[in-house]
Amino acid sequence: MTDHRMHAFRRRIGGLAYGGDYNPEQWRPEIWREDVRLMREAGVNLVSLGVFAWASLEPEPGKYEFGWLDEVMDLLHKNGIGVNLATPTAAPPVWLTHKHPEVFPVMADGRRFGFGNRLHYDPSSPIYREYAAAITTRLAERYSYHPALVMWHISNEYGPTAYNEAASVNFRLWLRRRYGDLQALNDAWSTRFWGQVYTGWDQIAVPEHPRTWMNPSRILDFKRFTSDALLECYIAERDIVRSYRTDIPVLTNFMRFYRNADYWRWAEEEDAAALDIYPDPADPGSHVPAAFQFDLFRSLKGGRPWLLMEQAASAVSQWKLNVVKEPGRMRLGSLQAVSRGADSVMFFQWRAGRGGQERFHSAMLPHSGPDSRTFREVADLGREVRLLSPVAGTTSRAGIAVLFDWNGWWGLEEVAGLPRNDFSYPETVMRHYTPLWEHHHAVDVVSPRSDLNPYKVLVVPNAYLIDDEGAEAVTAFARAGGTVLMSFFSGVVDACNRVRPDGYPGAFRRLIGAKIDEYWPARPGEEFAVRFSGGRTATASWWREDIHLETGTALATYTDGLLAGRAAVVANSFGSGRVVYFATLLNDDAFAATVLEEVRAAGVRSRFEGLPAHLECTVREDERHEYLFLLNHSADLTATVPLTGEGTDLLTGTPVTGEVTVAPLGAAVIQRAR
Ligand code: GLA
Repeated sequence: MTDHRMHAFRRRIGGLAYGGDYNPEQWRPEIWREDVRLMREAGVNLVSLGVFAWASLEPEPGKYEFGWLDEVMDLLHKNGIGVNLATPTAAPPVWLTHKHPEVFPVMADGRRFGFGNRLHYDPSSPIYREYAAAITTRLAERYSYHPALVMWHISNEYGPTAYNEAASVNFRLWLRRRYGDLQALNDAWSTRFWGQVYTGWDQIAVPEHPRTWMNPSRILDFKRFTSDALLECYIAERDIVRSYRTDIPVLTNFMRFYRNADYWRWAEEEDAAALDIYPDPADPGSHVPAAFQFDLFRSLKGGRPWLLMEQAASAVSQWKLNVVKEPGRMRLGSLQAVSRGADSVMFFQWRAGRGGQERFHSAMLPHSGPDSRTFREVADLGREVRLLSPVAGTTSRAGIAVLFDWNGWWGLEEVAGLPRNDFSYPETVMRHYTPLWEHHHAVDVVSPRSDLNPYKVLVVPNAYLIDDEGAEAVTAFARAGGTVLMSFFSGVVDACNRVRPDGYPGAFRRLIGAKIDEYWPARPGEEFAVRFSGGRTATASWWREDIHLETGTALATYTDGLLAGRAAVVANSFGSGRVVYFATLLNDDAFAATVLEEVRAAGVRSRFEGLPAHLECTVREDERHEYLFLLNHSADLTATVPLTGEGTDLLTGTPVTGEVTVAPLGAAVIQRAR
């Protein structure tokens, strides 16, 4: 059904979606007419409408004002623009919080959020849920069959964590469902330690501000619970709109590297994954983590196209210094998303606001109006997006998978008491992803539950916490002939955050062919010399392990320090596969070289081998065609790509043979028959 709904959506949109958040409630009706005229000029075919409009739709409890929305929906429809209609529940109106202040989320330290922003609700609050259901029902009743409606956008950027009494009540229910009886919960949380044993369910609360550290298993369950409590809100609204009409896709928008919601679990409940992303234009390398996010979002729904739901047309306004996207950068970032599977290019927001917190956040239509650099670039891109419509619905293939797991992230970052407490999961993931990106390898992102059959190489960045099923999936992948590249401090604890028995790295001792006696985090500034068996030297820092080889062999050993002569990198044959375990943090070049050698040895080749790193190269395909995306991130260097056979550059409509030259900050999208 999901595929069917998205297929119908693409048909109605006529290719890739182009547009942004549209907030007409902030403007007079005369402006709406100018908006649609300029939207057409810019090639807009989809807007996300009403995202924060609750206060305008229900100015008093139960008193609805839909007239303005009727008019806007009609106007958009008359102008051929589809509507991604939002339930406005990310912005509860002031009358609601005034009447029911218990809806405001309480923070871990007991302080309560106040009014004046957005996302100011406790997802467990029955009152919030009741009012959210009511406005959602009214919208669904009224607009489900409006001809402009092409998609439902449920709420916005689900995210608040709440420590309210209602959250405690809901947490207890969640725990009862998970553990069944108190004994199981006491075991899972190791409550004999420091005498935390519970004797009644009503004694359990959300992790309120503790005297010193919080029980690590309780925190972990609270993270899972928070993700699920938010998801319950999403599902409740989704089911309301779906009860009125089943053939319209329903989704919500996610954020980049967002820790509070397990997006693997969420994506199962959506028709497509959608991402809001605001790479800092001041960071010249921000397109690399963006590429990872795009790969993640494509992977969240098993390789299906995803939606770029929000980005900035130029500067954002939330940093201390908000630099513009220089000419060409917005286009390049947008094409980058499409190159990695997005079927849309959308922005926050259509028209720049005159007031409010984000009055300097750029928009498709900036304060300076249509006669502006940004609007010209937006309109040019709108034309190009239309030219790329054959790409809509196409997918891609990869031989390498990178494991990305919210449970592992929470285990590594949420809890004190680890041998070192400054792990950054996004950083370690990016460290593993970057050399693959630089060498133009197609990479998918996987969860411990994903199908690993399509891949030859599985990269496992610091998987400290992994459940039994996930550990078995990684092990089975190697046993069946795959190559596993795993980093230190993996497989250590079970799903309850308890150290696995029989020595580190519990879940993966047989897989890596070594036992670790102790983890030896390095002191600040400490570096150690390492030599690979082939003679190459490297440096190690940050982390070491007192490792004892069992079936594994040393691929590299320390040549100094107390661990001199011991393995720093282990290789192990396992079943029909191979495992390489990095027991330390190697310097970037040595790490990259080892990863790339192993990828090559596993039989994975990039078809863009040898091309410079500043030229990002990816492929989307369907049964008949492939689409080569060539994106030049350098502002100074040209790049030339040899081509076998012939194709057409969709952006220029010109045939290409022999080679393609891509200008600085330029792009080419070559369509070729397969
Ligand atoms: C997110 C938020 C919006 C807006 C944009 C731009 O979408 O939910 O309110 O802040 O980012 O920053």
